[in-house]
Amino acid sequence: MMRQAGRYLPEYRAVRERADFLTMVRTPELAVEVTLQPVELIGVDAAIIFSDILIVPQAMGMRLSVDEGVGPRFHQPLRSARDFERLRDVSPEEGFGYMLSALRLARQELDGRVPLIGFAGAPWTLLSYMIEGAGSKSFSYAKRLLVESPSTAHALLGRLARVVGDFLAAQVRAGAQVLQLFDSWAGALGPRDFREFALPYMSEAIGIAQKAGAPVIAFCPGSGWALEEIARSTGADVIGVDWQTDAAEARLRLPADRVTLQGNLDPCWLYAPPAVLRERTHQMLEAFGGRSHIANLGHGILPDTPVEHARAFVDAVREWRSP
Ligand code: CP3
Repeated sequence: MMRQAGRYLPEYRAVRERADFLTMVRTPELAVEVTLQPVELIGVDAAIIFSDILIVPQAMGMRLSVDEGVGPRFHQPLRSARDFERLRDVSPEEGFGYMLSALRLARQELDGRVPLIGFAGAPWTLLSYMIEGAGSKSFSYAKRLLVESPSTAHALLGRLARVVGDFLAAQVRAGAQVLQLFDSWAGALGPRDFREFALPYMSEAIGIAQKAGAPVIAFCPGSGWALEEIARSTGADVIGVDWQTDAAEARLRLPADRVTLQGNLDPCWLYAPPAVLRERTHQMLEAFGGRSHIANLGHGILPDTPVEHARAFVDAVREWRSP
């Protein structure tokens, strides 16, 4: 389940009352405490390290805040050539030492119970966040750069691909056993721009990361039309399927002997009474065919999801046997 350690857990909110979000991310003991919560409380089969994709631009020199009810925000979004020049390329050790420490500590505390997942944001998603400063409906600032100065965009995306790739490889050395790359805003791009500005840089980052030896999950929500291309171009071991994509069709397009798929229950079905949720979950599992599949939601869990329903989802997955 994505955003496992999210706000739907009262135990998460209790820790969050003592520390703000970025302090939690930067304090290995706190990050590990909330990393373990879903494993212990919900019974999921893997732990995802508590952090955020936006720590990469932060380490490159941008001021980040995560405000209550507002979400993450960069105070001075990149808008001019001078802004771009101020960005620093950081090595994983200097930029993300606290997260690498959290991974080492999490591995120790998990003690082999379940595998540990590391992650990062893909270059296009990071660049668009850095230019927009926050979430956006139209992505007009970021897309304007692609139109007006594609060479600048390519240079920045290339830098991000190398920083992200090195960061992911360092996560493996620190103890991550699986990596997930999120291109959360891939859906803002049409096919041609996705192929030019998103996919090559996600592939470059994954190529660097794979040298460290852990399997990689590539997730491009909003780009279900491109599943085959994502699999081919990135060479990822697992392709994430968003909830907007038909699971049975995804399986036909990428057969079980070629690649593992991950997904894709619409997180809103976790609002349903457990019996209904169970039926929906089983239908989803059947559609993926019971092989080379990681059961998951098709995007992040919603913060007002009842905890018992999150548990019912996990139980429904566990009890299902492929026909
Ligand atoms: O599962 C986990 O908790 C692991 C850690 C994790 C977080 N963010 C923690 C978090 C992961 C894997 C992410 C990834 C992330 N962050 C993505 C990619 C996944 C996706 O959703 O597509 C993106 C786009 C972000 C940026 C971001 N950070 C957003 C959009 C938000 C939510 C803002 C809001 O208030 O709705 C965050 C904050 C954030 N990251 C929270 C958590 C648990 C909530 C912080 C809080 O208020 O406690």
